[in-house]
Amino acid sequence: MAARILDGKACSLEVQGELARAVAERRSAGLRAPGLAVILVGDNPASSIYVRKKRQTCERIGYLSSGYDLPVDVPQQELLALIDMLNADPTVDGILVQLPLPDHIDAQAVINAIDPDKDVDGFHPISMGRLALKLPGLRPCTPHGVMTLLRRAKISLSGLHAVIIGQSNIVGRPMALELLNARCTVSICHSRTRDLPAMVRQADLVVAAVGKPRFVHADWIKPGAIVIDVGINRLDDGKLCGDVDFAPVSERASWITPVPGGVGPMTVATLLENTLQAAEQRDSASR
Ligand code: GUN
Repeated sequence: MAARILDGKACSLEVQGELARAVAERRSAGLRAPGLAVILVGDNPASSIYVRKKRQTCERIGYLSSGYDLPVDVPQQELLALIDMLNADPTVDGILVQLPLPDHIDAQAVINAIDPDKDVDGFHPISMGRLALKLPGLRPCTPHGVMTLLRRAKISLSGLHAVIIGQSNIVGRPMALELLNARCTVSICHSRTRDLPAMVRQADLVVAAVGKPRFVHADWIKPGAIVIDVGINRLDDGKLCGDVDFAPVSERASWITPVPGGVGPMTVATLLENTLQAAEQRDSASR
């Protein structure tokens, strides 16, 4: 049986259409367009592509987008001063600093400097704390985008055993909290996990976020499992592939995300959802 495709591109366009309509309604009610500031330090090729995509999508659906491209050797103090300025700017609802940052910059200090009410990446300790406590707040975009994709496909999660491969702050940890909040039983695996294939074979839902091309083999997959591939790896021939060995895995899974066109577009859609949410919260706080 071939798996059904979780089409992140189509789902992202659906969300973007809804957001564009919400922005048009805000504007006709006399409210400002949501504003997103995107900071890129250096010229990491992958980061430059992601940032361009984020800025373009913002503009296409009627947000105000401001871009700050800083040189790779920018002093940390200068980056922190820019964040202070954006924290104080009433036209800016969301601030995103593209990661990774160069080694001379303390990324956590930079994240901590962002006003949690403008933390559209959801990486601030306050945002992560709210997620851990199941309180309303801004949620990390990739895991939250995965939840949106699953919800819109009407996949029921309660009681499933979810196995996450990867323990990063950006994906693995917040993904575990999202799935726990959706009443899954959650296991987080990482490089020290003993017998990873045996762990993955127990999974009703697998999330692969390791950054290794075709790392997850078909014989690790329980027949009928849901497979979410967060990896985006560039092969020597220039093609993109995920962390999952797509063709054989899709013969065993019930649902699977493709790469490209799966989780990636949902990250961008969720960033824009978060920016609108931040704008609405700031409007109601100032009323
Ligand atoms: N680098 C890789 N993923 C992300 C993300 O979701 N947000 C930011 N800011 N940087 C990233």
